[in-house]
Amino acid sequence: MTFGESRTFMRGVTSPDDEARRVFDRAIDAGVNLVDTANVYSEGRSEVLTGEWIAGKRDRVLLATKCRFPMGMSTRGVGPHAYGLSRKHIVEACEASLKRLNTDRIDLYQVHMQDRLVPIAETLRALDDLQRAGKIVYAGCSNYAGYRLVESLWQSEVKGTLRFESVQFQWSLACRDAEREVVPACREFGLGALVWSPLARGFLTGKYQRNQPPPAGTRLDAWRDSFRAYDNDKMWALVDVLRAVAARHETTPGAVALAWLLAQPVTTSVIVGARDEKQLDDNLVGASLKLSPESLSELNAASQLDWGYPYSFIAVREPW
Ligand SMILES: NC(=O)c1ccc[n+]([C@@H]2O[C@H](COP(=O)([O-])OP(=O)(O)OC[C@H]3O[C@@H](n4cnc5c(N)ncnc54)[C@H](OP(=O)(O)O)[C@@H]3O)[C@@H](O)[C@H]2O)c1
Repeated sequence: MTFGESRTFMRGVTSPDDEARRVFDRAIDAGVNLVDTANVYSEGRSEVLTGEWIAGKRDRVLLATKCRFPMGMSTRGVGPHAYGLSRKHIVEACEASLKRLNTDRIDLYQVHMQDRLVPIAETLRALDDLQRAGKIVYAGCSNYAGYRLVESLWQSEVKGTLRFESVQFQWSLACRDAEREVVPACREFGLGALVWSPLARGFLTGKYQRNQPPPAGTRLDAWRDSFRAYDNDKMWALVDVLRAVAARHETTPGAVALAWLLAQPVTTSVIVGARDEKQLDDNLVGASLKLSPESLSELNAASQLDWGYPYSFIAVREPW
C-alpha cells in the first residue's frame, strides 16, 4: 500500500519509488515471501511496480492482490460493473491485475470486502473459473463479517466450487474486534489468517506521544480520524505497557506488537507496512522475537476487548 504515488487514501504517505524498491528487495532478501497488493493501491501503480520488481524473483514470492473497489475508490461517475463482486467485474479486474503485475498467475486472489448485492454463489463460481483457467492459484477474502464468511464456506461446499482459503483482516493490540467472529472462524475452519495494519498504522511503534499532535508527514498526521480513534486513555496506557515490555526485551514497541500477533496460534502471516528501509529493519526484528508468558499476559490485559453480548455471556461458561 506504500508503493507508488497515490491520488487517493494514501496520498502523501507512500514511499518514493527508489526507496520502495529498496524496501522490496531487502524484504525478499530477508526471507519475506508474501507480497500483498491490490488493484486500487495508488490507482494501479502499486501492482505495476510490484510486477517490475518481482521479475527474477517470482518463484520466491507468494503474490497476493485484490479486487472489489472501483479504481480511484469512488463510485461516482462509474457504472455498476466497475466495482463489486459480480462475475463481470471479477473477471475484468483479474485480467487488468495480471497485465499490471506482468505475470500469468496470481497466487492468492482476494476479494477486498464482502458485497451483499451479489449472490455469493456467483462470486465463487467466477473465482472457480479463474482458478480452472490457471489465472489464480488460490482465492481468499478480506473484510468479511462472520456470517458472510461462514455462508461463503457453506456455499462452496454445496455448489462444489473453490472456497476462500484465507481471510485478511485488521488485527493488532489496538484493534482486537476480529477476535469475536473472524479469528474463531479461521481456527474452526482451517482458514489462513492474514493480518493487516498490525502496527495500527504506525501507532504501536511508540512514535506518537500523548498530548502531542502526530509528527508531520506520518500516516496518522494524514489520517486524523484514525489518530483521534487512538487518542484516548486506554490506547496511551497500552503504549506505556508496550514501551515497558520492549525495554525488558531490549527491543522496540513495534517489534513487540508484531511478536504478540505472531504468538497467536491462528496467525498465518502478518502483512506489515514499511515506508523505508529503517522501518523494515525494525519490523523484521518482530519475526524472531519470543515474548515471555508474563509479557504476553501484560499485553493481553492492556488491550482487552469489551466483548459485549453474546461473547461475554458464553465466556462465563467456556473459553471463547
Ligand atoms: N485488506 C485491507 O482492507 C487492507 C487494509 C489496510 C492494509 N492492508 C494491507 O496491509 C498492509 C499493511 O498495512 P499498514 O501499512 O496499515 O500496516 P502497519 O504496519 O500497521 O502500518 C504501516 C505504517 O506504519 C509506519 N511504520 C511502520 N513501521 C514503522 C517503524 N518501524 N517505525 C515507525 N513507523 C513505522 C509507517 O507509516 P509512516 O512512516 O507514514 O508513519 C508505515 O507505512 C498494506 O500494505 C496492505 O497490503 C490491507
